[in-house]
Amino acid sequence: MNVLVIGTGGREHAIAHKLKQSDLVKHIFAIPGNDAMTNIAEVHTEIAETAHNEIVAFAKAHDIEWTIIGPEQPLTEGLADQLRQENIKVFGPSKAAAQIEGSKLFAKQIMERHNIPTATYKEIDTKTQALEYIKQCDYPIVLKKDGLAAGKGVIIAENIEQAQSGVETLYPEEQGLVVFETFLEGEEFSLMTFVNGDYAVPFDCIAQDHKRAFDNDQGPNTGGMGAYCPVPHIGADILQQTNETIAQPIAKALHDEGYPFFGVLYIGAIITADGPKVIEFNARFGDPEAQVLLARMDSDLMQHIVELEQKAPIEFKWKDNAVVGVMLASKGYPGSYEKGQLVSGFDLDGTYFVSGLKLQQEQYVTSGGRVILALGEGVSIDKAKEQAYQAVKRINSDALFYRQDISNKALR
Ligand code: AMP
Ligand code: GLY
Repeated sequence: MNVLVIGTGGREHAIAHKLKQSDLVKHIFAIPGNDAMTNIAEVHTEIAETAHNEIVAFAKAHDIEWTIIGPEQPLTEGLADQLRQENIKVFGPSKAAAQIEGSKLFAKQIMERHNIPTATYKEIDTKTQALEYIKQCDYPIVLKKDGLAAGKGVIIAENIEQAQSGVETLYPEEQGLVVFETFLEGEEFSLMTFVNGDYAVPFDCIAQDHKRAFDNDQGPNTGGMGAYCPVPHIGADILQQTNETIAQPIAKALHDEGYPFFGVLYIGAIITADGPKVIEFNARFGDPEAQVLLARMDSDLMQHIVELEQKAPIEFKWKDNAVVGVMLASKGYPGSYEKGQLVSGFDLDGTYFVSGLKLQQEQYVTSGGRVILALGEGVSIDKAKEQAYQAVKRINSDALFYRQDISNKALR
């Protein structure tokens, strides 16, 4: 079959790389894709991921059987619906179901209605009320802007002064929607769950992201600075509890309320004293979680997507090896940074997944905040970490930075 991957990043690079190993897949196309994917896919960087009509016409013209949508924006804008109307199969939820990621309030309300464990919350739709509210709440408190924000719409305020400045940032005008949540304490993890309506199958391999920009979880939130899997210190009991109290109930809730989800639901959870609770849902694979999980997956991703479509049993298989991925990002990210900086020293055989590079006069230059993920595999997390940082060292560039402590939580 012919498969089309939508998205430009390292996640989509990893998805295409994994599809390449499937006997079911004949030809892989990527829109927009990136220049580092041309050895595994036919890349069409000239088509934007927001050009829905063009994408649908392309899929029809190229006999695409399945489209896999990587990023959140085309999902929340209804690309899956438009493709399905033309009888093209899509791995990725409808616009209605993608609200689970696109609207923090939608997610909180559906969890509340179905008793899915998460932080208590209050939504406030004017700046004036928000400034009143923060005078009487307990600290720390978490402020989340409703709507997509690429990991940058969340502010954790330790005190009222920080809350005031958070309100100023998240309400550029008097009207605006922000969810205020109780701060939860505990260790976070990411669980990808394949969902088709009320049929939900979580990966039996948890991953852990590193959202803050700097070592020891300091600095601003980012899209993710590195990930690893498995997470040996988060055991089968937590996985089972997360499945029973979160994965199964949210799939059923979406199904029962008329928002059937088809694709991968990302459960961002935190292990509190009262068990795992939801921090966020995403309507797609995590980035960079996908890069490490798909590198560790030993079974056929495409076959699992077909099994999901048929609601057939899915048995994910994993390599024995652990996988660690370290993100190299442009200096300044998640704030402003320069583009067009030279990067070299990496190969494209599965050790590196590219997020923000493009070819310019036959040389790779930076084109985004997160730039390239270096992977390491090994019999243990510390061996995988060693390999990953060796792969980092092979990269030549003055324009990038990375965290030194990816996977350390598993090594303590
Ligand atoms: P989100 O975009 O909702 O995943 O939030 C980004 C990050 O903010 C999360 O990965 C957490 O580290 C932190 N965070 C979000 N909500 C909470 C919460 N209720 N309690 C503690 N930390 C949170
Ligand atoms: N790595 C977090 C995310 O994909 O949202």
